[in-house]
Amino acid sequence: MGKLSRRDVLKLGGLGLAVGAGGGLLRWLTANDHAAAGAGTVPTLTGSPDVEVALTAAPSEVSLFSGKPTRVWRFSGEVLQGSPDVLQTLPDTYLGPIFRLKKGQRVRVKFSHSLPEESIVHWHGLHVPEKDDGHPRLVIKRGETYTYDFQVRDRAGVYWYHPHPHGRTGPQVYRGMAGLFIVSDDEEAALPLPAGEYDIPLVIQDRRFDNNNQLVYLTNNMERMTGFLGNRVLVNGRPDFTLPVATRPYRLRLLNGSNARIYKLAWEDGTPLTVIGTDGGLLEKPVQKRFVTLAPAQRIELWVDFSRYDVGTRLRMFSLPHSAPGGGNFAVFTVEVAREEKADLPLPDKLTTHKPLREADAVNAASPRTFTLAMTMGRGWTINGRTFQMTAVARDEIVRLGDTEVWSFNYPGGGMMGGMMGGRGGGGAIPHPMHVHDLQYRILRRQVSVSGRSAWETLSPGFVDEGWHDTVLVMPGEKVDILLRFEDFEGLYLYHCHNLEHEDMGMMRNYRVKA
Ligand code: C2O
Ligand code: CU
Ligand code: CU
Repeated sequence: MGKLSRRDVLKLGGLGLAVGAGGGLLRWLTANDHAAAGAGTVPTLTGSPDVEVALTAAPSEVSLFSGKPTRVWRFSGEVLQGSPDVLQTLPDTYLGPIFRLKKGQRVRVKFSHSLPEESIVHWHGLHVPEKDDGHPRLVIKRGETYTYDFQVRDRAGVYWYHPHPHGRTGPQVYRGMAGLFIVSDDEEAALPLPAGEYDIPLVIQDRRFDNNNQLVYLTNNMERMTGFLGNRVLVNGRPDFTLPVATRPYRLRLLNGSNARIYKLAWEDGTPLTVIGTDGGLLEKPVQKRFVTLAPAQRIELWVDFSRYDVGTRLRMFSLPHSAPGGGNFAVFTVEVAREEKADLPLPDKLTTHKPLREADAVNAASPRTFTLAMTMGRGWTINGRTFQMTAVARDEIVRLGDTEVWSFNYPGGGMMGGMMGGRGGGGAIPHPMHVHDLQYRILRRQVSVSGRSAWETLSPGFVDEGWHDTVLVMPGEKVDILLRFEDFEGLYLYHCHNLEHEDMGMMRNYRVKA
C-alpha cells in the first residue's frame, strides 16, 4: 500500500476500490458504489499530530427514567496523545464526549465500532479534506478502523460530529450517536465572554420511548415524509433538564441535535434572546431576538445575564407554536437561579470582524446555481428531481476550487404539499434545513411566495441570518440565496437536507470541487 501514488489510488478508485486514510485500509465497495471514490491516501499532514484520540461506538445503556435502562448506541473516546482535557465526557448521557480543540491543532482520530451495521463519522461544519469528511462511501464494518488526520482550520465555534452511513444516519443518531466539537481560538479567548463553568453546551433532541423506556423510531411512512418527531425533549441526553446558575452572565451554546424537530426558542418571561454566535462561530456583534428558530443541525450561541433574577427563580426556555410539524408549545429546559455571584462581564458590543466574502466576487452572481426542493411522486423528497447516488455527480454539481458562488435553494409552493400531507396549517408545511459540507457560507437573501407567507412568518422573525452558517432553514414557498467559497480542498463533498429522515431517503447529493 505504501507504494501507491495518488494517481494509482485514483485509478483504483475508478475500478471500484476505496482506500481509507491512515492505516492503509483497503476494501471493496459494495455493489452499487461504482466508481470514482478516490479518497486520497496522501496524508495532508506529516509528522505526529498534536492530539490523537481513539473514538469508538458501541451498544450501551443509560439510565434515563426509573425502571429499565434505555439501550443506546454511544460514542466514547480515549485520548492517546495530547492533553486529557481534549475530551470532556458528560455524565449519564448517551451523547459522545465533547472534543475541545484549538484552531491550528492537528488531530488524528482513530474511529472503530462494534455495531451490527456500517458506520462512519462526519465532522459537521468543519473544513477538512475529502478523506476526513466522513462521506458515506467510506463506511467501515464492525472491527475495522478509519483514521482521520486533519488540522482544525475553523474559527472558534460549536461544531459537532455524528455518523453518516447512507440510509442509516437517522437511526444511528437517534440511538445516541452524536457529540459536540468545540473549537476555541486566541481572538475569542481575548474577549470578556463567560468561560469555564459559565460556558454551557446544551444539545437539544427529541425522542420517543415505549413503556419499557426503550427508544421508538419510525413507526410509519408518514413519519418518514415529515421527519421523525419524539414526544419528549432531552437536553444533553437527559429528560427534564435543569441548569443551576448563578446571578451573573453565561454563555449558552445550543445545538439542535434532533432528527427533524424545529424549535422556536424563547424565554418564558419574554426576555429577548441575545445571540452572539451561529454555526460558524461568533457574530460581528450581538443580535437581539424575541425568539430564535433553531432547525436540525444548527447551532446558536446565547449570552444571558441572570443577575436580574432573584435566587430561587425558575425560568424556562420554551419552544413556541409554529407552522412546521412538531411546532407545539412546550418547555425545553429549566434554568434555576441557585446562588448569588457577582461578575463584571459586560456584553462586548463588538465581537469579531468577519473575513469579507462579497456577492460581487461570485462567478455566477447573475445566474445562481439553483437547487429546487420538491416532493417527487414515488421517490420522496428530491433535489433538482434527483436523489442520492453514492458517487454520482451531475454536471451542474461540479464547482471550481477557489471560486465564490451563489447557490439558490428554491422550494416552490407549499400548497401542493399542504394538500398531500393533510391540509394546510395542519402541520402540513415541511421545511428543509439545507446543509453543505466542507465550508461555512453567508446567507444573502430570502424571498417568499404569497401562498407561503403566513406559515413562513411563524418562524422567520427567529432566523439569525447574520454570520456564518453550514445549515439554513428553507421554508415552503421560499427561495434562499447563499454565498459560498470553495477553498483549499478538491474532492467529493455532500449537500443535503439535515432532516435526517429526508437525508436517509436520498434528499442528498454529492458536489465535486475541481481544481
Ligand atoms: Cu451533519 Cu452531512 O451532516
Ligand atoms: Cu456536515
Ligand atoms: Cu428535508
